[in-house]
Amino acid sequence: MSLKDKLDLQRLPKHIAIIMDGNGRWAKERGQDRLYGHHEGVESVRNIVETCAELGIGYLTLYAFSTENWDRPVYEVNGIMELLVNTIRKEVNTLSKNNIRLNVIGDLDMLPAQAKQEMEEAIALTSHNTGLTLIMALSYSARWEIVNAAKKIAADAQKGILDPATVSADVFEKYLCTAGFPDPELMIRTSGECRISNFLLYQLAYAELYFTDTRWPDFRNENLYEAILNYQTRERRFGKTSEQIQQNEEIIS
Ligand code: IPE
Ligand code: IPE
Ligand code: MG
Repeated sequence: MSLKDKLDLQRLPKHIAIIMDGNGRWAKERGQDRLYGHHEGVESVRNIVETCAELGIGYLTLYAFSTENWDRPVYEVNGIMELLVNTIRKEVNTLSKNNIRLNVIGDLDMLPAQAKQEMEEAIALTSHNTGLTLIMALSYSARWEIVNAAKKIAADAQKGILDPATVSADVFEKYLCTAGFPDPELMIRTSGECRISNFLLYQLAYAELYFTDTRWPDFRNENLYEAILNYQTRERRFGKTSEQIQQNEEIIS
């Protein structure tokens, strides 16, 4: 029996975020070059995107390349960028066919011109789709994003477009890359590391965190179902007491 049958389809997270980690170790364990791991990781991306679309998940954010990853050896960075261009080119039609809307968060200006262009074209091409929103975090880091938001807020205040006294959480969020997207309820990190590595620091404030030893190239639909099942056992209290949450659920049902 698939774990899928055990899922409560009424209580799926609207937004899942994943730190796709472990490609390098996966390859090394097989006596291969790190880039082989990144290539194999694309198969997991395909599988997980398809699974989320099938389940009716609204948003999936995938951490594909961090600001800090630019400091990796040049050959690896170049290999990842090339893989990115080829994958988008190959997959854009499938995204459209599956009604998936592509989006990106991060500093696109840092990407090689061709990668940036492919990305922008794919975003435009899929912009009218109404199914899953797939958000790729590319050249992304949360500190970059938050500092950038602060800069834009300061600039708007200086121009007189924004009154600093009106800056609330709602206003601040409009300046983040994720403006318009709900916060992730479930954050998954593969490959054993229990850290956030500069990912969505603002948006993950109340996310349920799920860490698994499975390396990203081995992570497939059943692993995702397992993560969601685990999520569904958690009580999300948002600072309240368990009794308050249960009372509220009784009122709703
Ligand atoms: C994640 O896998 C992919 C990127 C960060 C681009 P890693 O390349 O970090 O794999 P490990 O952590 O070294 O095994
Ligand atoms: C986080 O993985 C970034 C991505 C998965 C894209 P890293 O492998 O770069 O994180 P650290 O360096 O182990 O914290
Ligand atoms: Mg890693």
